[in-house]
Amino acid sequence: MNTISMPPLLPHPTFTLYQHEPIYDPDIHLSLTEPDYVVLLDKFQRVSKTPKVDRSVTSNVDGQLAYTSPFQVLSDKGYRVLLMIIDRDQAYQKNDDIATVHIRDCGYRSKWIQDFNRCPRVLNHLSKITGDVQLLPVAYQIFYSQVNIGFPNGLNVTQYHCDSVPYVLLLRASDMNKTIGGDLEMIERESKEAFHLIEQHKGEVPDEYTRKIEYGDINSCILMQGSRIAHRVTPIDSCSEPRITVVNSYMTNNPYAFDYARYSFYKKESTAALEYAMHKVWRANGQMLELATGDHPYPTNDEIIEHLTMAIDELTQARHLISDSKSDQIGYFDQKNQELHNDRSVDTTMM
Ligand SMILES: [Fe+2]
Repeated sequence: MNTISMPPLLPHPTFTLYQHEPIYDPDIHLSLTEPDYVVLLDKFQRVSKTPKVDRSVTSNVDGQLAYTSPFQVLSDKGYRVLLMIIDRDQAYQKNDDIATVHIRDCGYRSKWIQDFNRCPRVLNHLSKITGDVQLLPVAYQIFYSQVNIGFPNGLNVTQYHCDSVPYVLLLRASDMNKTIGGDLEMIERESKEAFHLIEQHKGEVPDEYTRKIEYGDINSCILMQGSRIAHRVTPIDSCSEPRITVVNSYMTNNPYAFDYARYSFYKKESTAALEYAMHKVWRANGQMLELATGDHPYPTNDEIIEHLTMAIDELTQARHLISDSKSDQIGYFDQKNQELHNDRSVDTTMM
């Protein structure tokens, strides 16, 4: 398999990087530990480690991991820097349809956040935990370390959805020892079946189908293949402080993997068109590069044409979506109105 480099860092049309913040140093800011167990997509079985599987680059299988038990990524010093950045960026809080409050674009304002999301040591650690996929940061820089903030208001902190990024690293950034509710809950079924259950039970899927995902204490993380699992965060009944999580988003380095990206969900953001175009160009480039430099016999003309067609299709889809001639919206369950929306945008990295 070729080593495909990560998508480039982009500038922002408005934001510039803060000048006065610590320089990211993995020796100081990381304290990587292993999860005690992982849960696999296959029958949602709990095992001590994800089995290692040798995959061909042309496989479109995303990986076996459902989610992990809590583990640590940042050291105490790293966590303090992250809290400082969250505190500084409070002015950029926003709302959307299905989440409560979030802060995006941290990866356009902070070099530290950029380096944390792109850190090879973190990427290698997380990739080993998946057992079989090499992770890279997503091309959508807007989602680098998105901050989600939940308050007690009687509604799901986030509604049932699947993510439109393949993998998420969720970091707990507030003390929830005195919080009642606000649980990350998943449906232990293949996602299509899960959404049937959600509709059938009007958003209140019986406990026999669901599982609360253990999140750990402050500064603990879980890694989850949220694109494959229907999940929500239950309402917060009471709390001593808001529920804050930080979400790093990752994709596999396999340019043939199923593309979970949903442009329509965030197309109103000022950087969406360029980010999504870069994402599709990254995939098309990877597909062509594999043909040119992969470890296989010299390609036939038919194989060259097949790869060209794949790459053209990626770019054509981007052009359709960015020009608004097509939509890639998918559904989510609206708790307030008790209905499954198939015609509205879905959340991406909310936890
Ligand atoms: Fe999510």
